[in-house]
Amino acid sequence: MLLKNDLLIRAAKGEKVERTPVWLMRQAGRILPEYRAVRESVSGFIELAQTPELAAEVTIQPVDILDVDAAIIFSDILVIPEAMGLPYEMQEKRGPWFPETVKDVSDLKKLRIADGVDDLSYVIEAIKITKKALNGRVPLIGFAGAPWTIFAYMVEGSGSKTFSKSRAMLYTQPEFSHQLLQMITDSTINYLKAQVAAGANLIQIFDSWAGILPPNHYLEFSLPYISQICDAIQNVPTTVFAKGAFFARKEMAGLNCDTIGLDWNMGIAESRDIIGPNKTLQGNLDPAALYGSAKEVEAATRLMMDQFKGTRHIANLGHGVYPDIDPEMVKVFIETVKNYS
Ligand code: CP3
Repeated sequence: MLLKNDLLIRAAKGEKVERTPVWLMRQAGRILPEYRAVRESVSGFIELAQTPELAAEVTIQPVDILDVDAAIIFSDILVIPEAMGLPYEMQEKRGPWFPETVKDVSDLKKLRIADGVDDLSYVIEAIKITKKALNGRVPLIGFAGAPWTIFAYMVEGSGSKTFSKSRAMLYTQPEFSHQLLQMITDSTINYLKAQVAAGANLIQIFDSWAGILPPNHYLEFSLPYISQICDAIQNVPTTVFAKGAFFARKEMAGLNCDTIGLDWNMGIAESRDIIGPNKTLQGNLDPAALYGSAKEVEAATRLMMDQFKGTRHIANLGHGVYPDIDPEMVKVFIETVKNYS
């Protein structure tokens, strides 16, 4: 199907665009009352994510309400551990929680390499329904967590301030860590290939916990696995967002991806210098800027746009939008990008 608005895809590939495309990480759900209404009609996040018609509905809500240049499929990065045999719960206020975790090589027997089509059929079905309903209005982004970030949740069992158990594992059981990371990588490649076959137009990899690793461990335990994924996904553009990995920008420039996401701590000019001209950069307004007044949001957005001007750019925040942000301020951010020239 031909896309009516393909700004995101052209910008990712470094082709000419009339204006900078804009979308927001975590735009589906969280901030929209319309999302909460759908979510309240079911038992919770997991049932919503596993009901393809509803997942498609909340995927399209930000396109209708916020007028973003892309949809991102409503799901979570934690569907991969579940498909590998480690189920999660989503606890109100506390976030994700795994009743069982992975501690050593004997636990690998509990796990399998996920098949993207069979084990994650509900996401694949949601992508197909979404594509049909979008009817080419905007591209659909598929996604997965980076192996290191998924590893961290599987070992830790929940979010954590320090992620000390998963970081310790890299020192105490490096071989086992590599084995588990490879299983996650193989599962993720199967999953992302199935997303592309179902119609995803671009793939983003979220390495949300990149920034807690020392550089040598990032280069050993995270980047090589992201690299395998980038090499495996070649029919659609790919974006790698590694939060906090300022120390690995040079190495990331060598990935077989089209776009690199910047968080709001990364200087724009400095990042361009390090990464060079051959990648699109995505980001990177501080999500907290959206707590300002309309005038302040507009000024902060224009300041960001000035710094990216004339280079390959997809406008976004430097991380996911915070749940208590006023959707009206999100609209100011989007409108400011669209009117910028
Ligand atoms: O809008 C979108 O971007 C699409 C869907 C999406 C969700 N999670 C839905 C969700 C995406 C892309 C994610 C990615 C995700 N999930 C990441 C990577 C991005 C990042 O923020 O760094 C991570 C680390 C997770 C793990 C996760 N899922 C956490 C820590 C939590 C709890 C806190 C929260 O609300 O984000 C979730 C739950 C979750 N995932 C919700 C949504 C809409 C909230 C669940 C609810 O409805 O109560």
